[in-house]
Amino acid sequence: MKKITLIIACILFPYIYSSAQGGMWVPSMIGERIKDMKSKGSSLSADDIYNTKKPSYKDAVVIFGGGCTGGMISPDGLMLTNHHCGFSQLQKHSSVTHDYLKDGFWAKNRDEELPNPGLEAKFLIRMEDVTDKILAGTNGQNATDTERIKQDNIEKIIKESVEGTDYMAEVKPIYYSNQYYVYIYEVFKDVRIVGAPPSSIGKFGGETDNWMWPRHTGDFMYFRVYAGKDNKPAPYSKDNVPYRPKKYFNIATKGINEGDFTMIYGYPARTQQYLFSEGVDDILNYSNPAKIKLRTMRLEEIQKARKSDPAIRIAYAYKEANIANAWKKWQGESLGLHRLNTIDKKRAYEMSFNEWAQGKAEYKDVISDLKNQYDLIHDYALVRDYYNEAIRAIELIKAVELAGKWSSNTTDTVPAALTGFYKDYYPEIDIRIAKKVLAEYMNNVPKEFIPVEVNKNISDAGGVNKYIDSLFENSLFVSEENLKAGINKGYNFIEDPAVKLYSAFRDMYRNKVLNYLETYNANIESLQKVFVRGQQEYDAEKKTNRAFFPDANHTLRVAYGSVSGYSPEDGVWYVPVTTLEGIIAKDNPEDYDFNIPQKLRDVHSAADYGRWETNGTIPVCFLASNHTSGGNSGSPVLNGKGELIGLNFDRTWTSTMSDIEFDPSICRNIGLDIRYILFVTEKVCGAGYLINEMTLKK
Ligand code: ARG
Ligand code: GLU
Repeated sequence: MKKITLIIACILFPYIYSSAQGGMWVPSMIGERIKDMKSKGSSLSADDIYNTKKPSYKDAVVIFGGGCTGGMISPDGLMLTNHHCGFSQLQKHSSVTHDYLKDGFWAKNRDEELPNPGLEAKFLIRMEDVTDKILAGTNGQNATDTERIKQDNIEKIIKESVEGTDYMAEVKPIYYSNQYYVYIYEVFKDVRIVGAPPSSIGKFGGETDNWMWPRHTGDFMYFRVYAGKDNKPAPYSKDNVPYRPKKYFNIATKGINEGDFTMIYGYPARTQQYLFSEGVDDILNYSNPAKIKLRTMRLEEIQKARKSDPAIRIAYAYKEANIANAWKKWQGESLGLHRLNTIDKKRAYEMSFNEWAQGKAEYKDVISDLKNQYDLIHDYALVRDYYNEAIRAIELIKAVELAGKWSSNTTDTVPAALTGFYKDYYPEIDIRIAKKVLAEYMNNVPKEFIPVEVNKNISDAGGVNKYIDSLFENSLFVSEENLKAGINKGYNFIEDPAVKLYSAFRDMYRNKVLNYLETYNANIESLQKVFVRGQQEYDAEKKTNRAFFPDANHTLRVAYGSVSGYSPEDGVWYVPVTTLEGIIAKDNPEDYDFNIPQKLRDVHSAADYGRWETNGTIPVCFLASNHTSGGNSGSPVLNGKGELIGLNFDRTWTSTMSDIEFDPSICRNIGLDIRYILFVTEKVCGAGYLINEMTLKK
């Protein structure tokens, strides 16, 4: 059976690849896509999208914080991103007396906007292909010297690129180091919270609706970028003024229809389109199942506990959301990879590539070499997953990690990081999780990766459960009080059983796993470099029409597609737009995640929609066929005229294999309609004054 699929896939693969497009395009090369974009309804020129001589849309897109995107929407530095992107900032400003998470927050004037130390907004000044400069002088050198010369060249380029400016620069490879780009950014460090809806809008649907369609989450939040009087980045100061961006997005109030062109401009973090078949096999058949199972164990315990006690719900809300987000994504990814038969297709492709490669010195061994390296890395990669998802998932271990290296005399106070930790810590949940995940580790990881002393402690105690019981009984890390008491008594923390457990695992991991992973990964990287180059040659020769876009690497990219529904299963069609009526239908005062603000109910019963009314209601979310990934949260969604029609915040979970293989028939990103954002801002939250800063286009 497998053989037959393989043969069929072999015959079909060029067509499979050429129809399965997708793409995250490099803005400075967008000229190559303009014709195709026009044919799909865009009237944008390459210069509108990316230009280093005059303002272009790239100047209105920012890297928000560590991992999200934001878009500028006013001449006064107003920026739009997702509620889930600003969530941790909002949490830091919240307390029992002002619970901005629960109630939302709206600055009534600029003095009330909330500063966030450490939060940055980065604007791309320019990007440039520097491959030749980086490879200069490497010809004929051995591997070590080549690496050294390249590093020197990179340093030189970074230095030259920012000379005489206060910009920052970084060099990143694309196509597995077949090409290099330098990216130059202007980094603003005074970014303040302007407005956020209550979580009952911004997180509406909670984990139940996360990654799902039909969707009704109002996942938006406003920030403002501040600058010094010279409009240049400046550290936080009361005297800073709103940054005047080179470009900001006008807002389309006309709305969208199925089939309309959409473009997403943002910072996707990581995709692996050119991954070798064995790499996909590792993800689908080993890594994902292991990680999903371990997270299921944690979620089950948290969910059981939170049902019994509302305080636990609050304490574990953020943790649960974090655990559940990737957990659901991996399940969708596995489902998608199965359905698309990605591994078989890749194997068939590799087989045929290998035939073609015989007689070509550069490529003839690459397939078998890759296979060998993946065989060698397999166990280590799996141990990494178990280490991260089992051992480091035990919160008691996390506490030791947060505390840093303990010795009897390192400190006389509880470290600040731990105070925050204990605020939201329930050892009775942790102990149940620890028993399950440690047992799972012991049962699945080869013996050599179980630290000898841990193994001994467990058998001395009479099994994992008894061992964990005694660990929690005897470690001072179970509570802040115990820790303080220990500090006062001059307790030798090196002897704490949790510190011992942590150190044993960490040492094992560093000595037995990390070096190997680094070596094999470096080998795989350099083989992939050859393989990707080979694929480009091979596909060109076979005229497959495959689109070779570089994998996402957390740099600015353009994705485009259209507003479109899809069929999730036989006989079902999902329409691509949801409305306020769906929110009202899901509204349930008994269910925390679906209990909307009374004000939203009132506005709905009065049908007080004002200028945002559309066909008797308010549009909320929409599906589109853009190829996006993690990091695209908060990305502006534009129409064919470059006007803002929405804010990207999710994909459907069945789309998430698009990080490895995109399927245009079901891969959909989820955007929040700009009209819902403006409606909530004005009619539900009474912050219509913000809209006066924006430029609305009919
Ligand atoms: N699924 C969206 C994105 O990765 C939204 C995440 C918000 N977090 C959550 N747990 N609901 O990542
Ligand atoms: N919510 C994701 C983010 O935080 C975007 C969803 C996706 O993975 O496409 O970037």
